[in-house]
Amino acid sequence: MFGIIQVELYNPPVYEIATHNLAKKFRRIFPLGASPVVAVDGVDLRIERGEIYGFLGPNGAGKTTTIKMMLGLVRPSAGSVEIPGGIRARDGRYRLGAVLEGNRNIYFRLTVSENLRYFGMLRGMKPSEIGGRTDELLSFFDLDEKRHATAQTLSRGMQQKLAFAAATIHDPEILLLDEPTLGLDVATARAIQVKLRELAHKHGKAILLTTHQMDLAQAVSDRVGIVNKGKLVAEDTVDGLMGLFKRMAYTFETRTSDIERVGLALSGFEHTISESRRPGLALVTVQLQDSKDVFRLTRALEAQGVIPERLSESVPNLEDVFISFTGEGAEGTNARARGGDVE
Ligand SMILES: Nc1ncnc2c1ncn2[C@@H]1O[C@H](COP(=O)(O)OP(=O)(O)O)[C@@H](O)[C@H]1O
Ligand SMILES: [Mg+2]
Repeated sequence: MFGIIQVELYNPPVYEIATHNLAKKFRRIFPLGASPVVAVDGVDLRIERGEIYGFLGPNGAGKTTTIKMMLGLVRPSAGSVEIPGGIRARDGRYRLGAVLEGNRNIYFRLTVSENLRYFGMLRGMKPSEIGGRTDELLSFFDLDEKRHATAQTLSRGMQQKLAFAAATIHDPEILLLDEPTLGLDVATARAIQVKLRELAHKHGKAILLTTHQMDLAQAVSDRVGIVNKGKLVAEDTVDGLMGLFKRMAYTFETRTSDIERVGLALSGFEHTISESRRPGLALVTVQLQDSKDVFRLTRALEAQGVIPERLSESVPNLEDVFISFTGEGAEGTNARARGGDVE
């Protein structure tokens, strides 16, 4: 009876940093007359306050070049980088902090606390502020005991944590991290994951991290963008991306001696039977049309006297999604996928 009146409200930008059609071509010196390398090919990103954005792509996809353009270290061939709140906070600190690939952004001959003091001064902090912030970071990163050790004597994991602390000494609102856990041992990588989540979800930081490690991306990202050959080819929440690939499939194991009866039970289902990693067992995957079909499935198995062991829904992981967007013969693009052919 009543019509719905839709009111368009003005939404101010909620993002901390954005790129608009950002592109970079590198000229090639050799061979003579070679066409340029298109490293980044029109990328639009928006990183919001309080979120971790996982920027994924195979080697050479353009991730590092994108970050360097966001930092102003590489000049874009086209497009722009926007930081709506400005690059400097009102108190004069820079709002951006970054850790680039490797850990070259610390001074190996300086001690841990000297590194932090140096980077604090560089970013416009007062000496009195630096002391307090150093204590805070050293305990946050479990580096207290190493305060007076020179950076070169630290383990790789500790150096990475120091690089991280140096990049965040001025408490920036935006963090750009290039492969932050590459080459780290599992424990340190996990510690950094926890810190990242705390920084975004508790302290409201906007974090962009690049990685080609799917497990890291899946564990920490709120949203994921997949970049391939310089273009953003997919972007969504981790669940959203995995949802694109979610087939309604169930797997279970069964004794190899029951295979014949399993075949009879599953005659009305699309299914595959393969070898299980556990000896004497076969792995069965059944495709269902509807989640309610799981009842029909268990009844059919029961009727044949087959007990499905470890019955579970088969969930795709981010790696499956990544391969289908970046690998050869990719399939599974749909309305939510972005990008297209080059030129
Ligand atoms: N300074 C440079 N000069 C020429 N080509 C470059 C330069 N930096 C990167 N490239 C090329 O640009 C492409 C993207 O590189 P990069 O951004 O480092 O990718 P990723 O970080 O995703 O591995 C690659 O083909 C790389 O060889
Ligand atoms: Mg890189």
